[in-house]
Amino acid sequence: MNLDRRTFVQGFGLGTLGALAGCTTAAAASATARSTSASVPVFNPARADEYWRSVRALYPLLEDPVYLNTGGLGPTPQPVLDTFFSTMLELQEHSETGHARFEAARETVAPFVGAKPEEICFVRNATEGNSIIAAGLSLREGDEVIFETHAHPGGSFPWFNQVRQRGVKVRLFDPAATSDEENLKRIKALVTDRTRVIQVSHITCTAGVVMPVAAIAALARSRGIWFHIDGAQSVGMVPVDFAAIGCDSYAFSGHKWLGAPHETGVLFLRRDRLADVAPTGIGAHSGELDYLPGELKYAESATRHEYGTRNAGAVAALAEAVRFQQKIGRDRVAARGHGLASRLIDELKAVEGLTILTPRDPALRGSMMTVQHTRAKASVLFDFLLKKHHLRCRPVTEQGLQAVRVSTHLFTSQSDCERVIAGLKASTREL
Ligand SMILES: Cc1ncc(COP(=O)(O)O)c(C=O)c1O
Repeated sequence: MNLDRRTFVQGFGLGTLGALAGCTTAAAASATARSTSASVPVFNPARADEYWRSVRALYPLLEDPVYLNTGGLGPTPQPVLDTFFSTMLELQEHSETGHARFEAARETVAPFVGAKPEEICFVRNATEGNSIIAAGLSLREGDEVIFETHAHPGGSFPWFNQVRQRGVKVRLFDPAATSDEENLKRIKALVTDRTRVIQVSHITCTAGVVMPVAAIAALARSRGIWFHIDGAQSVGMVPVDFAAIGCDSYAFSGHKWLGAPHETGVLFLRRDRLADVAPTGIGAHSGELDYLPGELKYAESATRHEYGTRNAGAVAALAEAVRFQQKIGRDRVAARGHGLASRLIDELKAVEGLTILTPRDPALRGSMMTVQHTRAKASVLFDFLLKKHHLRCRPVTEQGLQAVRVSTHLFTSQSDCERVIAGLKASTREL
């Protein structure tokens, strides 16, 4: 594809996106203009503010309201959208599925998370990855699964489905915001001879607690228990290395902290654990069976869980999202979000009328801050911040928490944080 063609593709993609999203023509036009110069800037410590402003400019995300819900859905930066749109158009030009492009994407994504290419498969979201594990492990009535009470429905429903379907028993612990040791202790206290699986959210979606995953992996290994991690809130927020953790399986979303397009996700299945998860959805690309009837052979890799016609544009863009973060530097991405969340915590922790639920210990948290208002329920505080202060956060109502979560990521600015601080302080006077 030549340059003119590519420029046309970018404009076409954004115009379409703007129309679909109901954006104004002006907003779509400005996003189109931005698309022609979408490249990742080079970091200069002496001009850090300028650098982060240039990064922010790569996102077509509108400035109003200030977007603070990456934990729910991450906006996609322009270079990633460009790959998405151009791949889609190239495939449309030949009416091809582009399935062969999955392998190139696998080569990019796997090393980013400490996996071998044959250990990962592309799924639609973290929920699908969690579901493949819950439905695919050989479990019998009375077998026990441990996970935390703050699990997202995408992490808990797959197991409660097994409670209904196979009589599996669920044993739950409340995640502690105090220490790794406390979380480990709570998990250990639930382990019995019938425990078959431990699952944790790498970072909880409620208070943003980082779980001691390597220590839990060691515990699970020593007891012959499967260890699965729901990483919807971690990959793309913090550097993650599955091999170093030592888990058996790990699922994550592309469309949150990585900023990949909607409906992208990855399931990791350790090479020597492949045979332990029976494929639940299966079809073309999952294995071989040339003549019917005959014996179905599963693919000798995690791709046995991939099947049918898929969105190769989205998968190519997921790989581009990884490259985008690599260009910025994954440590720099993590430090930026963490630093902004720390600023929020530091400035709000002593405010009367607010309680920070996120751990105070910097090592126990990532790029999120969750706060409770003494009088206002989650929905009231959420509406107040959105309508009066133009801050798009996320209400947290899991387990009756009644809080609001603020996600800070690489496109969040210091002035966005100042507005969050001002809005939350105002809420203590006005609500
Ligand atoms: C911990 C956790 N697991 C799973 C999910 C669901 O993610 P997805 O939409 O990618 O399935 C979320 C979404 O917020 C989450 O926070």
